[in-house]
Amino acid sequence: MINDRKVAVVGCGFVGSSSAFALMQSGLFSEMVLIDVDTRRAEGEALDIVHGVPFASPMKIYAGTYDDVADAAIIVVTAGAAQKPGETRLDLVNKNVGIFKSIIPQIRESGFKGILLVVANPVDVLTYAAIRMSGLPEGRVIGSGTVLDTARLKYMLGEHLDVDPRDVHAYIMGEHGDSEFAAWSSAMVAGVPLNTFCEMRGHRDHKAAEARIAENVKNSAYEIIEKKRATYYGIAMSVKRICTAIMRDEDCVLPVSSLMVGEYGLNDIAISMPTIIGKDGVVCRVPVALSDDEMEQLHGSADALKAIIDQVDF
Ligand code: 2OP
Repeated sequence: MINDRKVAVVGCGFVGSSSAFALMQSGLFSEMVLIDVDTRRAEGEALDIVHGVPFASPMKIYAGTYDDVADAAIIVVTAGAAQKPGETRLDLVNKNVGIFKSIIPQIRESGFKGILLVVANPVDVLTYAAIRMSGLPEGRVIGSGTVLDTARLKYMLGEHLDVDPRDVHAYIMGEHGDSEFAAWSSAMVAGVPLNTFCEMRGHRDHKAAEARIAENVKNSAYEIIEKKRATYYGIAMSVKRICTAIMRDEDCVLPVSSLMVGEYGLNDIAISMPTIIGKDGVVCRVPVALSDDEMEQLHGSADALKAIIDQVDF
């Protein structure tokens, strides 16, 4: 039986605890279990976060074990080594696949039937690993993918055009990492094609602005890690957004990472593209039209991920 009001967060580092803090405030759940190899850390985070409950909605928050995840509606997996300054997300692959080999079988053995939300990096490789190891139907395993990168893109475009980022419809697709790209050809603001909207706002040098903004989006995590050693608030909001889509059965479109089954000619790889998300996870993927150049970038990104996956011993 799935308890529709219960979430589990595995990994209580910066990303896990910030996500737990955001989820506590969301009102989506009435029970949250925090799990970490460092049990005292999980206990400390649970105590700290639960003291915010009187300012939010009633809920139980406690440190637990894999015995507590069986009936959760969602498990958010953030456990893993974090990116150090100068390291890429793909550099983490062997360390974090190793950690997944200890976590995912325990989730599987608990009999968990909910949705597994993979957040740890490299998120696309770990989502693929979780699909292979969890025994869950593939649509119930989702990676946070480029949801955060897309938020960064919307924010920067909002600043550039002086418009509410929520009115910007544009996606970062591909790997959550160095080979990601912005799908400019389908970008719109309030239904107006992006370039037309830019001209309305007095910006004419589209290519230069696109290149600058896409580069800034891609380098955001590096810049933040350089300055404060980790990123966690943006990803915590992304986790809350994805959990909201699932718990409220919103059927909203988010660029999560999921297993490709022929979309854009891609197979047997987890990568991000716009995807309808509802109570059972992936409802369907939305193959937005890509220009030839964007299609090439998507395949380049998929090839980079495949090369890594082929080296990993799952
Ligand atoms: C981020 O993009 C590091 O993946 C993390 O903020």
